[in-house]
Amino acid sequence: MNQSRRTPLIDSSLAVLSKGYAWLPDRRRRTTAPVVRARVMGQRTVALHGPEAVRFFYDERHVERGTALPGPVLSTLFGHGAVHTMDGQEHRVRKEMFLSLLTDPEAVAGLVECVAAAWDEAVESWPGRPSVVLFDEASRVLTRGVCRWAGIPLDDAESLARDLVAMVDGFATPGPRHWRARRARSRSEAWLGRLVEDVRDGAATAPAGSALDVVARHRDADGRLLDPHTAAVELLNVIRPTVAVCWFVAYAGHALRLRPDIRERLGEDDPAYAVAFAHELRRFYPFAPFLGGRAVTDLEWRGEPIPSGALVLLDLYGQNHDPDLWDAPYTFDPQRFLERPAHRDELVPQGGGDRTTGHRCPGEDVTIALLRALGPRLARLEYDVPEQDLRIPLSRIPARIRSGFVIEAVRVPA
Ligand code: HEM
Repeated sequence: MNQSRRTPLIDSSLAVLSKGYAWLPDRRRRTTAPVVRARVMGQRTVALHGPEAVRFFYDERHVERGTALPGPVLSTLFGHGAVHTMDGQEHRVRKEMFLSLLTDPEAVAGLVECVAAAWDEAVESWPGRPSVVLFDEASRVLTRGVCRWAGIPLDDAESLARDLVAMVDGFATPGPRHWRARRARSRSEAWLGRLVEDVRDGAATAPAGSALDVVARHRDADGRLLDPHTAAVELLNVIRPTVAVCWFVAYAGHALRLRPDIRERLGEDDPAYAVAFAHELRRFYPFAPFLGGRAVTDLEWRGEPIPSGALVLLDLYGQNHDPDLWDAPYTFDPQRFLERPAHRDELVPQGGGDRTTGHRCPGEDVTIALLRALGPRLARLEYDVPEQDLRIPLSRIPARIRSGFVIEAVRVPA
């Protein structure tokens, strides 16, 4: 008999919307079973967590991605036709394009250099301003830096930063935030699609080896160039998440305010500590809540049946705060990563498994390198933190600091 008929489950979509990051960890605490069963958007859903579950989830014989992502998420966050929705050989060929751009140490260093230069330039103007919203400023700095690195000409960094943030901010919610995200995506896809066509026609130039050049010339598994829309979607899949690192820059401000001892240590030039700080930011603060895929056949996980076609969720936030994996998981403590390196399938803020064969984020090196560069810069800056709403409600996906982290009376030390 059909599993959903045997155990009728109330649809949890509303609970996901109202509880956000806490939904799956709460459900897991209330069961002794190794999985959480639910219905989400009318679909049978089985949620897993833990390093072994990561390996199970990322095995293509178990879980595929092609049909799992809902349309509203594609129309805002990732784009239709994105690498996120591909499986098998087609996915590998498209993924290689991202890996070639984002994992070469020289390319990563080049991107960090562009962003750090944009940061240093922006910071010069902060002492003259009554206040600075760190989240907004970081989004503009990252937009300038990544577009310069990617070979994308930029007229108005402020509007583009707003659009790129909107696509991330509005993917998981109905209402105005969602429609803002859709409009931002349509505008950006049209602009970048035209740019790719211009590069191919010779009406615009792309620096050799830049993201614009690589995406415009990329051939998929079928040997064809990407159509301009898909090329625009994938260019956005480079620049949008890079700009989303602004979430972690604002979280860095939050962490340093709570822990002046960490601020002092981070301000010293110790690259290992700066990396540990970046890992702890990614582990501790909420960003990606969970991943979704679809069971390709009838499966079994630790004795629990997962019917073919069921939605399979991997609880990233829950795993990053699992007391079985982390001592004092709700304490912000970069030191933990100095004592023990981040294991591939334990620390999963950007997915797990192998990034070359699976869907794990190809931008992890970039994220860590950017935070390693910007964290110490922020720690060395002197500023006041006025009274403001510093709450980070876990019911909101994606979570963010309500005030955006406002600083005042900025002093740039000589
Ligand atoms: C995939 C998180 C930064 C590009 C992912 C996934 C997550 C994630 C959770 C899905 C993994 C999966 O489906 O298994 C993050 C977070 C970031 C970040 C929290 C920090 C802000 C970046 C950066 C880039 C990037 C900087 C590029 C410059 C991508 C791409 C994929 C992806 C292209 C799709 C990979 C695939 O489907 O094979 N990211 N990411 N991300 N990320 Fe990131």
